[in-house]
Amino acid sequence: MSKILITGASAGLGAEMARQFAARGHDLALCARRTERLEEIKAEIAERHPERRVEVAALDVNDHDQVFEVFHDFVARLGTLDKVVVNAGLGKGAPLGTGGFAANKETAMTNFVGALAQTEAAMEIFRAQQAGHLVIISSMSAMRGLPKTMTTYAATKAAVAHLAEGIRTELHGRPLGKTVKVTVLYPGYIASEMNDGVEGSTPLMVSTEKGVRAMVSAIEKQVADACVPPLPWSVLAPVLKHAPLPLLKRLI
Ligand SMILES: NC(=O)c1ccc[n+]([C@@H]2O[C@H](COP(=O)([O-])OP(=O)(O)OC[C@H]3O[C@@H](n4cnc5c(N)ncnc54)[C@H](OP(=O)(O)O)[C@@H]3O)[C@@H](O)[C@H]2O)c1
Repeated sequence: MSKILITGASAGLGAEMARQFAARGHDLALCARRTERLEEIKAEIAERHPERRVEVAALDVNDHDQVFEVFHDFVARLGTLDKVVVNAGLGKGAPLGTGGFAANKETAMTNFVGALAQTEAAMEIFRAQQAGHLVIISSMSAMRGLPKTMTTYAATKAAVAHLAEGIRTELHGRPLGKTVKVTVLYPGYIASEMNDGVEGSTPLMVSTEKGVRAMVSAIEKQVADACVPPLPWSVLAPVLKHAPLPLLKRLI
């Protein structure tokens, strides 16, 4: 049994990870801005798995001081944290140079600087504990620079994957690397609030339950990185990375 902190746990992948981790016997620390949603998920888990412990807290990941406070408060409440899932994110965006700086900046701040704060706070805790598992939720869009509304989003997702890779490289061959693990997940299209508008427009979309099952399984195996669900995304990953532009533009 682990104690797992999930950010962005009020909806979509974060909420479903909470449900599936609770079903697998783990205790949870859940945070997001919409605390009424967190309380609903906590009540749902209490009904299905009364033996599970679920702590909730309000957190806006753009309030960086609050990120450190909330993470440390969860440690005080639960005694330890075994895993931190850096999941909170949003997908707003506009083609660069078309007046959409506000949306692009909000995405950059939330998905990258917010994730940096969460990663700093998690690593501070793991270094003190000399143990822990950092999980970063990137995206298949990190595989390649993408056009239009996706440009900033894809850049943030590549950036967070590099944060994780940097930490993994630092830990490699050191004693701390034996007890602190780092996982990066690259989800494809998984039904959630974020891609409400996309649903129905791509045959590659999978249900929240199915997509998150693949995520939870990869996290429990502590893999270094995984495309989720594995099919078709692990096959498409090298194609997206290396396809010449004319082919790439037909694929996306
Ligand atoms: N669904 C997909 O197909 C897909 C694919 C690739 C990657 N991802 C990634 O998966 C993660 C979860 O996305 P999702 O699809 O589950 O989206 P979602 O349904 O829109 O949920 C996003 C979550 O992030 C939280 N969040 C957003 N801004 C926040 C902020 N400033 N502070 C704290 N929490 C914040 C939201 O909570 P509040 O609004 O309550 O704060 C919500 O719980 C994101 O990082 C996303 O980029 C998703």
